[in-house]
Amino acid sequence: MERLQIVQGLEFSQLVYGMWRLADDSGTSLRHVDAKIRAALDQGITTFDQADIYGGYTAEDVMGAALKASPPLRQQMEIVTKCDIVIDAGRHTGARVKHYDTTRTHINESVNQSLIAMGTDVIDVLLIHRPDPLMDHFETGEALDALVDSGKVRAVGVSNFRPWDWNLLQSAMRHPLVINQIELSLKEISPFTNGDLAFHQQHGHVVMAWSPLGGGDLMTGTGELATRLDVIAKRYEVDRAAVATAFLLAHPAKISPVMGTNNLERISALADAGKVSLDRQDWFFLYEAALGGEVP
Ligand SMILES: NC(=O)c1ccc[n+]([C@@H]2O[C@H](COP(=O)([O-])OP(=O)(O)OC[C@H]3O[C@@H](n4cnc5c(N)ncnc54)[C@H](OP(=O)(O)O)[C@@H]3O)[C@@H](O)[C@H]2O)c1
Repeated sequence: MERLQIVQGLEFSQLVYGMWRLADDSGTSLRHVDAKIRAALDQGITTFDQADIYGGYTAEDVMGAALKASPPLRQQMEIVTKCDIVIDAGRHTGARVKHYDTTRTHINESVNQSLIAMGTDVIDVLLIHRPDPLMDHFETGEALDALVDSGKVRAVGVSNFRPWDWNLLQSAMRHPLVINQIELSLKEISPFTNGDLAFHQQHGHVVMAWSPLGGGDLMTGTGELATRLDVIAKRYEVDRAAVATAFLLAHPAKISPVMGTNNLERISALADAGKVSLDRQDWFFLYEAALGGEVP
């Protein structure tokens, strides 16, 4: 498994296991969650993606229960979590409208809650989950810098930011933003040409791809893209997921796919993507089908 340097002394596995769906799984028992974490770790997937809001503000607790029961696990993992989305659920019950909150108070409260929920004294990378139209970049930037200075988080980044959102926040910070987590897959190909990937590739930021299997649609879909995924999957004796993931891994920006399956068998096969080596024409064979026609 490739490792990516995030900041000095902190590396992530290129494949990341995402926990958005953790609390939706039919099994959230401590034993089952422990098995999922170990299935990822066994393949060298050491980086886990969380957010305060996942599971209606419960997913960090579900993972935390497993970590508290087996403290050595935490030392083998890197944890990413996010904040700023507020919905009428859990500790934000009563919110009148879904909104984003990038104020210092909200960020600090969210981080403190995340640390308690996951039973850890440090978050490896904290992301601002969605660009907030009301973000005061000086206040948000100062709050993020202070969190790094305090040691509660090792580094900070963002999610779903466009390059101008990134630049605005970074302009008010001392510490570097290190990650942008964006939707990117054969189902959502616009970042390949809209400037998002080019921006991060130029500056050497880590790009995490959320919903790399299109949230499952690429697995269950039919049509030309599905047929082409199957052609390559057959060649390497893997499933479509491995090919769709390899499509992202083949990009020179060193994209880091955040995998979301809840299925233990599928988690155990995530590293199969590494068996697939796509040459330039294979890559365009898939890209063409995703585009719906040949490149101009
Ligand atoms: N930053 C953001 O705004 C944001 C937004 C969305 C997600 N994320 C992150 O990205 C992670 C991944 O998102 P995702 O869960 O949408 O990713 P995904 O890997 O694209 O999709 C996972 C879904 O695909 C299904 N699936 C996987 N393999 C399958 C197969 N062979 N056949 C049929 N279905 C299959 C899974 O079902 P099974 O569980 O049954 O396998 C699951 O429902 C999340 O956990 C979260 O950490 C971030």
